[in-house]
Amino acid sequence: MKLLFLNGVNLNLTGRREKGVYGAETLDDINAQIRSYVNARGAECEFYQSNIEGEICAKLHATDADGVILNAGAFTHYSYAIRDAIAGISVPVVEVHMSNVHAREEFRHTSVLSEVCRGCILGFGKNSYILAAESFLL
Ligand code: DQA
Repeated sequence: MKLLFLNGVNLNLTGRREKGVYGAETLDDINAQIRSYVNARGAECEFYQSNIEGEICAKLHATDADGVILNAGAFTHYSYAIRDAIAGISVPVVEVHMSNVHAREEFRHTSVLSEVCRGCILGFGKNSYILAAESFLL
């Protein structure tokens, strides 16, 4: 079992931006913890982050993973391109958010991705990624 953890726009700033919302650990710190957890559960993982919508689409098209854990960041709320990329591949995608987007600004309440994802995990900080991984590992 191989899982792809795919992070979109601004997620590279995790640990430096809005620490009260996203925490003080960097994406590299979080990814190292995810790798330990997933490997201990007997699976492999790959990490990719891009601020460019088309690169996220291209990574989805090319993935050889068994499952994708996707935090698309703000792309979540308006990217029909990423939505179509998810719909166009046979690999299941779980949508993830560190924050509870429904407890935040109105524009974050809409996801154009949820409908084409297997499920969504949100509001558990960095553990949202682990909980989403568990949906494939259980
Ligand atoms: C986010 C929530 C999005 O609304 C926001 O644009 C992000 C991060 C989250 O992980 O909580 O960049 O996806």
